[in-house]
Amino acid sequence: SVKQRLLVVANRLPVSAVRRGEESWSLEISAGGLVSALLGVKEFEARWIGWAGVNVPDEIGRRALAKALAEKRCIPVFLDEEIVHQYYNGYCNNILWPLFHYLGLPQEDRLATTRSFQSQFDAYKRANQMFADVVNEHYEEGDVVWCHDYHLMFLPKCLKEYNSKMKVGWFLHTPFPSSEIHRTLPSRSELLRSVLAADLVGFHTYDYARHFVSACTRILGFEGTPEGVEDQGKLTRVAAFPIGIDSDRFTRAVELPQVQSHIKDLKERFAGRKVCIALIIFTYFTYYLHSAYHYALELSYDDDLTAAFTRSHPPLLVGTALTAVMLGVDRLDMIKGIPQKILAFEKFLEENPTWRDKVVLLQIAVPTRTDVSEYQKLTSQVHEIVGRINGRFGTLTAVPIHHLDRSLDFHALCALYAVTDVAIVTSLRDGMNLVSYEFVACQEEKKGVLILSEFAGAAQSLGAGALLVNPWNVTEVANSIGYALNMPADEREKRHRHNFAHVTTHTAQDWAETFVSELNDTIVEAQLRT
Ligand code: UDP
Ligand code: G6P
Repeated sequence: SVKQRLLVVANRLPVSAVRRGEESWSLEISAGGLVSALLGVKEFEARWIGWAGVNVPDEIGRRALAKALAEKRCIPVFLDEEIVHQYYNGYCNNILWPLFHYLGLPQEDRLATTRSFQSQFDAYKRANQMFADVVNEHYEEGDVVWCHDYHLMFLPKCLKEYNSKMKVGWFLHTPFPSSEIHRTLPSRSELLRSVLAADLVGFHTYDYARHFVSACTRILGFEGTPEGVEDQGKLTRVAAFPIGIDSDRFTRAVELPQVQSHIKDLKERFAGRKVCIALIIFTYFTYYLHSAYHYALELSYDDDLTAAFTRSHPPLLVGTALTAVMLGVDRLDMIKGIPQKILAFEKFLEENPTWRDKVVLLQIAVPTRTDVSEYQKLTSQVHEIVGRINGRFGTLTAVPIHHLDRSLDFHALCALYAVTDVAIVTSLRDGMNLVSYEFVACQEEKKGVLILSEFAGAAQSLGAGALLVNPWNVTEVANSIGYALNMPADEREKRHRHNFAHVTTHTAQDWAETFVSELNDTIVEAQLRT
């Protein structure tokens, strides 16, 4: 059968580019839930349109990059530095992102943002128009155009202005906040109206969809129906499509020899076997050889996990007697509640002295949006807290928190998920949170516990198996850590079954198929109505 052509439009392409020479580029997989989910979508003849994460001022570079991306079925949208500053760092990540996650602007930024609001919003619209131009250039009749996320709320309108027959869907990967929050946005009406130009609008949860519909009724005065939003007989269909992961990719990865060998290394390390200094030096040495080799070959930089841990705290890991591994994996973002998580862990250690040398918290904090000052502040805040707690509870041979400011390659990440006893997600708000799904997928052997914020979309799907917590309540989170670490095997097994069944039956694949077939149906129904 002929696969349906799909144009997937998102600010960030699944690969980000790093320049190696005038005409030479290397491509690395981009981080984040949107990219992970979309990589799992395989039933379509898909093309990706988006930004490659770099500024390319010269024509030679642009041509070479477009060529390299074409091999990955990616089509670049080139954004210059000024646009990135105003549209991406400014309007998207300093205004829409905190607002949609119910985090207000910090006091000192408030007036500055108020002043620069209009120019940032103008840049946002201009950027969306640039995406629309590229889509229009590559569009063929019958294509489905699927727009993603808060960066591109203006895109559906731009596309329909080009061609009212284009099939256009828009999906939001973040929460959509209560209309009381949305209505503080100066551009509230314009944004809603342009999203409503789409044929189908999707959210992760029913709550987000409901918030969107009530924003449209209260702010625009349109009619909300069980189907969506109606304006003078024109219906925009609105519905919930909870995202998932490509669970097979994770269950298969855990079985791979290289992942198994990672797992073995990690188990040895955390089982507290005496590791002699010579071995550590050897690991160091191979690590540097390895990276030099990678640089020489211009491969993407992807080093070995054991080496990374050795590098972060070399002598401290020697001869410790750890028994339990707790894991956090987050982009270093304020919505993830990383300080809250670490403070709860501190409280747990404070109240449970016998656990102090038996548990370690590994926090992978993937750097993100590093040009935005709020993110820079968060980085130093987290470092300060980690340093203080390690100073307080560390010994000559061990520290309780291992904090890595870096990303991991896929296999290293799977190994880490697999050896973890307790994964902990403390998002203050989170559209879905795929890390929780990925952890569950890798736990068939261990059947570890998931502590999950009730403010993550995933709480609605994994709530029965996970321990749900309010991340703002340090006492509750600390108690849950104790409960999780002491949970009997039969309860762990039961909870894991529940989550595993969900994660393996609600995949990214199903999500995309459901969305696109709903979009096709919506258009057929609209034609029948007129
Ligand atoms: N991830 C990554 N690199 C890493 C660690 C994690 O790309 O070093 C991925 C992780 O596998 C997951 C995604 O980043 O798929 C995070 O998605 P999630 O929905 O949890 O949060 P988001 O980052 O989208 O807010
Ligand atoms: C979240 C957003 C995505 C974004 C990702 C990474 O998952 O919903 O749209 O791609 O974070 O953030 P970045 O700014 O690096 O694209």
